[in-house]
Amino acid sequence: MLKKLFSKSKEEKHSMEVAQSLLTNECLPSHIAIIMDGNGRWAKKRAMPRIAGHHEGMQTVRRIARIADDLGIQVLTLYAFSTENWKRPKSEVEYLMSLPQMFLNSFMPELMERDIRIEMIGDMEGLPSNTKKALNQAMEMTKNNNGLILNFAMNYGSRAEIVAAMKAIMMEVSNGKLTMDDVDENMINQYLMTSSLPEPDLLIRTSGEVRLSNFMLWQLAYTEFWFTDVLWPDFDQKTFMQAIQAYQQRNRRYGGLKGESSS
Ligand code: FPP
Repeated sequence: MLKKLFSKSKEEKHSMEVAQSLLTNECLPSHIAIIMDGNGRWAKKRAMPRIAGHHEGMQTVRRIARIADDLGIQVLTLYAFSTENWKRPKSEVEYLMSLPQMFLNSFMPELMERDIRIEMIGDMEGLPSNTKKALNQAMEMTKNNNGLILNFAMNYGSRAEIVAAMKAIMMEVSNGKLTMDDVDENMINQYLMTSSLPEPDLLIRTSGEVRLSNFMLWQLAYTEFWFTDVLWPDFDQKTFMQAIQAYQQRNRRYGGLKGESSS
């Protein structure tokens, strides 16, 4: 079921009504994953510092989370900082690391009101203490919320995630808790950071780049991809709806034949 409209202004309410009427209830993606790209170029086009682009990108996170929640999407995973992003200038990294705190402090009342749960994937231990604290507090405060799961990928790298899962499984095999015959796709899923989440149905990447950049390599095996030239700070409801509508027109075959919905 699509959720009751939450948006307050008349204009917002009207555009959500239009959006909802365009969407087919039954085939909404349950899990949407987004590679948010183009903040730097957005800022450059305006002769602004890169961090201004990241700040605007954070506002887009807020807008898109609201829309996903209004639509009744179950999980929204956002690639906010990769294990490779540490290579950026120190000042930019520091700013990116301050965003969760800024975002969560100001958005928390609305997160609670909307019943949104914050989760994260990535190496939490490698984050600065303030970032860790903000994320931990938000996860704790929202842990009993049952609405949209807003899942941040922070200090996340898919290859590192797979290596960690392999090591954990090998440890279990070597201490006799598992045998090699126990290892199958389901078992590997259980050792990934996404073990409690459904696999993404739809992956969106903004800014015209067409690559995965070490994002959810295992989990995206049967996900539908949608790319747009729109820069993340400009990503709006209209673009989001275009992506969802494109998804709804896809025929997911999972390696089977046309018309079949599962393998
Ligand atoms: C890539 O664009 C973007 C990032 C590395 C950061 C994304 C972060 C946000 C959108 C904000 C996250 C918000 C919270 C609350 C954690 P880029 O900077 O590489 O863009 P460019 O390719 O144009 O330079």
